[in-house]
Amino acid sequence: MASPAFFNFSVSRHLNCFRAITKFAFLIVLATLLYSCNPDKRGPSGRPNSGQVDTSISYYHQIAAIIATRCLSCHSEKGPGPINLASYANVSFNAEMIRYVINRRIMPPWLADEHGWDFANKRVLSKQEIGTINKWIDNGLYKGDSIAGVSQAKRLITEGPKPDIVLHMDKHFFIKGDNKESFQKATFKFESDSLFPVCAVEIVSKQLKVAHHASYAIKGISKFSRSAEEFLLGNDLFHDSSVVMIGGWAPGAGATRFPEGFGFFLPKKGEVDLEFHYGPSPVDLTDSIEVDIYTARKPITRSCTFISISNGDSICRLSPPLFEIQPNSFQKFTLQYTVKKDFTVLAVGPHMHYLGKSYHASVIAPDGQESSIINLAHWNFSWQDQYLCQTFHHIEKGSVLKVEAEFDNTKDNLRNPSNPPKLVRSGWESKSEMLVFILLVTQYKLGDETIRWNSEF
Ligand code: HEC
Repeated sequence: MASPAFFNFSVSRHLNCFRAITKFAFLIVLATLLYSCNPDKRGPSGRPNSGQVDTSISYYHQIAAIIATRCLSCHSEKGPGPINLASYANVSFNAEMIRYVINRRIMPPWLADEHGWDFANKRVLSKQEIGTINKWIDNGLYKGDSIAGVSQAKRLITEGPKPDIVLHMDKHFFIKGDNKESFQKATFKFESDSLFPVCAVEIVSKQLKVAHHASYAIKGISKFSRSAEEFLLGNDLFHDSSVVMIGGWAPGAGATRFPEGFGFFLPKKGEVDLEFHYGPSPVDLTDSIEVDIYTARKPITRSCTFISISNGDSICRLSPPLFEIQPNSFQKFTLQYTVKKDFTVLAVGPHMHYLGKSYHASVIAPDGQESSIINLAHWNFSWQDQYLCQTFHHIEKGSVLKVEAEFDNTKDNLRNPSNPPKLVRSGWESKSEMLVFILLVTQYKLGDETIRWNSEF
């Protein structure tokens, strides 16, 4: 079962309640499993020979494949998930807990609901998959016969290409064994004689059990850094004109390669500023992070950049205009930005801190038609994803990007970093708040609406 290290996160809260209710049920499951381990008493299903066993759904034929594609990126031996789901024994032992988290859609973790664009990296089980797992559990966890090629729920990883540039840390991160979350920062400097065309960036941590998420900004320190195509979208949108790309990473996400021709240029000289969030650990640990950069094999003709609209930008309209969240209150804000040039959106990233409650981003086309981009009914600081568009989206000049978000600064918000709640203002630290919408974009070209991310790395 989970190590105490993970108890701070949201799932744990649900689960603690669940555990209390089902402690007894677990004992029964355990007793049944122990009983079923006695070969003399076992039927073909791995279950006792009492009554008819429904063999229409078996671990080997259906369940292992669902678990492999939907869970093992995190729930493997070294992954960030607290339980390893790579074997029949582990899956069946945790069956009731799995049933609990999948039916409430706590797992796989994915905050965006169906009110918005379709995303390529969506981590959700289909209704049918949930039905299959429920039925399999109801029917008594039938194991079935192992079939060729499916000995266990193995994660389908193929060795990918090696990174072209690997940036290392000078010093290790130290994670204190005090069962508290921590945020750590590092800077990776780089220098070369030419501009590198980049098609993917990956962050590699050796402590996946406690690594929670990271965000990074790639900066150039020469004037050259913004690449030739400063076509963009009103330079006033950038806080720091030397930042060429920002991105996020979470364990289990892996690197995603831009579609052919898309990417960005790594400046000749610059740095990657990384902020890393570790979950609580009961023991002292060290971690040394690597930033892996993959160069594009084909020329980049569609240079990408990002737009970040936030509560701090003077060019955005914020209402109410003062970004303050009073203690013991809920506060709603609306952020609006009028688009100055046509562009194509490849991915979006909503961002708030611990007081965030809900988040909705939409676009109002010049004809007044409003459509939803992304809706997170229950914001959770722990799962900050970059949402990759299933197919790219065109945003027309004159459209308005609108973000509506609610913050909960009451003591009932269990993630509130201040107890009793305090007045919270804008700031980068996690005790302050932010309302940000990041869009990964490029200049629009006719036909972009049909382009997709590469499914293979
Ligand atoms: C992106 C990573 C990720 C994926 C994918 C994922 N999980 Fe999890 N899971 C976690 C993490 C991390 C936790 C610990 C709680 C937390 O941090 O929210 C967790 C907790 C759990 C727990 C509670 C375990 C405990 O003892 O606390 C169960 C059960 C679970 N996951 C089942 C699943 C199943 C089943 C799937 C696939 C259908 C799945 N998870 C997919 C990351 C993931």
